[in-house]
Amino acid sequence: MSKIAAEVGTPAYVYSYATLERHFKVFDQAFAGVPHLICFAMKANSNIAILRSFVKLGGGVDIVSGGELFRALTAGAPPDRIVYSGVGKTREEMKYALTCGGTGILQFNVESTAEMTELDEVARSLGVQAPVSVRVNPDINPKTHPYISTGLKKSKFGVPVAEALKLYETARNLKGVRIQGVSCHIGSQITTLGPFKDALARVSAIVKGLKAKGFDIKHLDLGGGLGIPYNNEKPPSPKQYGDALRKGLKDLGCRILFEPGRVLVGNAGALLTTVLYKKGSKGKTFVVVDGAMNDLIRPALYGSFHQLWPVKNGKKGKETVDVVGPVCESGDFFAEKRALPVLESGDVLSVMSAGAYGFVMSSNYNSRPRAAEVLVNGSDYHVIRKREEYKDLLHGEHVPKFLAAL
Ligand code: LLP
Repeated sequence: MSKIAAEVGTPAYVYSYATLERHFKVFDQAFAGVPHLICFAMKANSNIAILRSFVKLGGGVDIVSGGELFRALTAGAPPDRIVYSGVGKTREEMKYALTCGGTGILQFNVESTAEMTELDEVARSLGVQAPVSVRVNPDINPKTHPYISTGLKKSKFGVPVAEALKLYETARNLKGVRIQGVSCHIGSQITTLGPFKDALARVSAIVKGLKAKGFDIKHLDLGGGLGIPYNNEKPPSPKQYGDALRKGLKDLGCRILFEPGRVLVGNAGALLTTVLYKKGSKGKTFVVVDGAMNDLIRPALYGSFHQLWPVKNGKKGKETVDVVGPVCESGDFFAEKRALPVLESGDVLSVMSAGAYGFVMSSNYNSRPRAAEVLVNGSDYHVIRKREEYKDLLHGEHVPKFLAAL
C-alpha cells in the first residue's frame, strides 16, 4: 500500500483482485445446485477492469442506465448476461438495450405500467420483443438506512403486488414484450436473513400463482442487498444466505438471477489518503487528509462508518481525532471522535470498505480531480483509472463568444 501511495499518489482507490475473485466464488458456491446467474450490480463499482473481472468469472451485470450498458459492453459483458433495472428508463436507453450485440439484453426489470407500455411501443417499432420481468415491491422492511430501503410500500421502486398481477395480465396481450420473470430488490446493506426470507416467500407465491395462470416464468431475480461488515455488524455470510434460500429456490424451478453489488466489492477496496496537517480547536484535534467527501461521500451522505487504518503504524499511543478533508463543508469528514494511532503529516491512511459506492459516487466538487483507481493482482498492481488532471476538469466546457473579450 505504501508503494502504491508513493508511486500513484493519493487519494487513490485500491482494489484486490484476489478478494473480488474469492467473493464471487463464495457467492456462486452458496447457490451450487440451483441454476443461477450472478449479475454484479455495477452501480457499486463500474470500472471496466472490475466488470471484466466478474465477466471472466462467468458473471453478468445488473445495469440501471444507458451509460452503465455502454460500460458493461465495453468491458465485454455478453448482452445475454445483462439485466436492466431502474425506475426511469428512457426510450433511447430502451432502444440501446433492445438492439445491443444484435440480440439485445437478457431482461428488463419493468418498474411501472407506464414503462411496460413504453417498452412495448419501442420494441414493436424495432420489430423485436423485449424480454421482461416485473419488479414487484413486496412491502418488506429491510431494516437498513432509509435512503437505501427500496422494497417498502412507500418507496418509488417496483410495482405493488396487487398492481403487478394486473400488469402481468395486461402485458400478456402486448406484442412487443415477452414475459419471462419476476424480480424484486428490497434494499441494500441488509444485515439479517429475515427480510430476504420474507421477500422470497412473497415472490415465490407470485411465481407459483403466475405459473398456475399459464405464464412462462423462467427467471426469478432476487436483487442484491446482502450487507457487509463496516464496523461491528455481523451480516449473514453468502453461505448462510444461500442455506436460508436454496431449498425454496430449488422448488420453484426457475433460473435465479442475483444482483449483488456491495458484498462482492465493498470489502475488496480501500481509499488511500495522506495526512496533510493536524490542527486543534477547542480541545478537538482535526487530522486534515488529502481525500474528501468528493472522493468518498458515504460518511457525509449516510453517516456511514469506515474503519481507518494507518498503512504503517510506527507510532505509540492513540488519540481521539476527527479525520476531515479539504472540501469547504462541515460534512466533509471520514471519521468523527475516533481513537486512532497517533498520526503525523505524511502518514498514509486506508479508508476501509470503500470498494462499493466509493469511486462511482465521487464528483469534481471543489474542482478536485477524481482519484486514481488501482487493481492489485498478486505482487503486481495496475492503474485501472488514471488520476484526473486539471484539463480533465474542463472537458466539454466552453466560453461563448459574447464573453470572449476581457
Ligand atoms: N439491484 C438493484 C435494483 C439495486 O437498486 C441495488 C442497489 C442493487 C441491486 C445492489 O445492492 P447491493 O447488493 O449493493 O446492496 N449508495 C448506497 C447504496 C445504494 C444502493 C442502491 N441500489 C451506499 O453507499 O450505501
